[in-house]
Amino acid sequence: MKNKRRDFLKMSGLVAGSLAGMNIMGCNNQVGKKVSSGSLELPKQNHNQKFNMAGYAAPKLEKVRIANIGIGSRGSGALNRLIHIEGVEIKALCDIVPERVTKSLEKFGDVDYTPDTYSGNENDWKKICERDDIDLIYITTPWKLHTPMAVYAMEHGKHAVVEVPAAITVDECWQLVETSENTRKHCMMLENCCYDFFELLTLNMARQGFFGDIVHGEGAYIHEFTFNPENKTKTWRLEENIERNGNLYPTHGFGPICQIMDINYGDRMDYMVSVSSNDFIMKEEYKKAAASDEFWEPFAKGAAKNHRGNMNTSTIRTIKGRTMMVQHDITSPNAYSRIHRVSGTKAAALKYPLPPKITVGHDWMSPAEYEKLEKKYTPEITKRIGEMAKQVGGHGGMDFIMDWRLIDCLRNGLPLDMNVYDAAAWSVIGPLSEWSIAHRSSAVDVPDFTGGSWKTNKPQMDISLTRGGNTKMV
Ligand SMILES: NC(=O)c1ccc[n+]([C@@H]2O[C@H](COP(=O)([O-])OP(=O)(O)OC[C@H]3O[C@@H](n4cnc5c(N)ncnc54)[C@H](O)[C@@H]3O)[C@@H](O)[C@H]2O)c1
Repeated sequence: MKNKRRDFLKMSGLVAGSLAGMNIMGCNNQVGKKVSSGSLELPKQNHNQKFNMAGYAAPKLEKVRIANIGIGSRGSGALNRLIHIEGVEIKALCDIVPERVTKSLEKFGDVDYTPDTYSGNENDWKKICERDDIDLIYITTPWKLHTPMAVYAMEHGKHAVVEVPAAITVDECWQLVETSENTRKHCMMLENCCYDFFELLTLNMARQGFFGDIVHGEGAYIHEFTFNPENKTKTWRLEENIERNGNLYPTHGFGPICQIMDINYGDRMDYMVSVSSNDFIMKEEYKKAAASDEFWEPFAKGAAKNHRGNMNTSTIRTIKGRTMMVQHDITSPNAYSRIHRVSGTKAAALKYPLPPKITVGHDWMSPAEYEKLEKKYTPEITKRIGEMAKQVGGHGGMDFIMDWRLIDCLRNGLPLDMNVYDAAAWSVIGPLSEWSIAHRSSAVDVPDFTGGSWKTNKPQMDISLTRGGNTKMV
């Protein structure tokens, strides 16, 4: 495990050094420069933007020809949604497990096409990217494959959408940014929580000035303990949690807060500090599981040495002097929470614990007052597609709104609601938190993936549907 950790740090461009060196980095905050010891290389901070992908609209597509890679739980759900959207043709399906591909063909009974299938070989997905009759690669595979697949797809002329997190190292974040700029292909992270109903409502309220100036935002990914020794299908995710110590899954709670605080569109993250507890739970759970099933022995050994701390708290200061907090814990017996706190100079909102709440002073508003505000500030996107989305489903409807808007933008030749800079900025919290934790919670600078264009970029997420919004459901 120790070697793996070192490999990770190298891959991130964060080569670990002596304790003295760590202190140097923590104190002088010179991320992006080689420190005098020579042994410490810190992540690249900036680049000369080749082309600004913020606000970029690719030529419109009459039909959006999609290939889906990774037909596990999430990929299978995506197919259920995509086949209901006008103008979509799913041309190819790929998974290394053949049954997952063949089983998913059953979903295509009611449409007039049948996707080609690719399976059995771990590199079959490349053949899909190399085809010339596909516009969009929809990636729902384990984390380590997200960036390699998205980069290969863009290099072969395809738009790429990729599940969360889009990248797991700082270097991967840069690869996504540079490839998207070089190829002028969209690269969107499928952050569905940006389309949940209260998140959309509060984004609209923020844009209409209801909260005044936003001073602070909080997000999280906290939920009940879900380890089940009977389920051996998603060990890749468990391995990530043993190999890496940090805020590994930040984007669900963090993405919507970034949207509300105009991160990359008028402000940007300056530096971050991250702290993690020890692991008090998982090593015992793996030990128990290994006692009756040897399958879990490597996990028990790995976790005993090095399981991710149960609770991570990462705090960020922005260039404009605002603050953000994002937490992660999916190993303790907690009620589900993405927090979603918005704190402004005039009002505040808090989603979790449910129900969502709004205040302009001492107490949360009454349900009647809340309803009045909800009516006033519900954005057009929710009005137009919200009810339909609830019927199709996918985390209460937000997944469908996301997919519908993605296809709607591609069909209308519009900028996507989220771009590669969002994908990189939200995902980079993972590797930067690992670095900070490995260095006694020292501050680490957050790279400017926009190459300075954050100062003039205009928010992309068009919740008012000023353009497009005409894609139907089939
Ligand atoms: N946005 C959300 O709400 C949400 C929810 C759950 C999961 N996710 C994300 O979705 C992704 C997938 O998660 P999941 O729960 O569906 O995992 P999963 O393990 O069920 O599915 C992953 C699939 O990828 C396939 N795969 C692995 N290597 C491959 C290769 N080389 N070529 C083709 N296929 C390959 C696997 O066989 C598997 O079927 C993860 O990134 C996860 O973080 C997002």
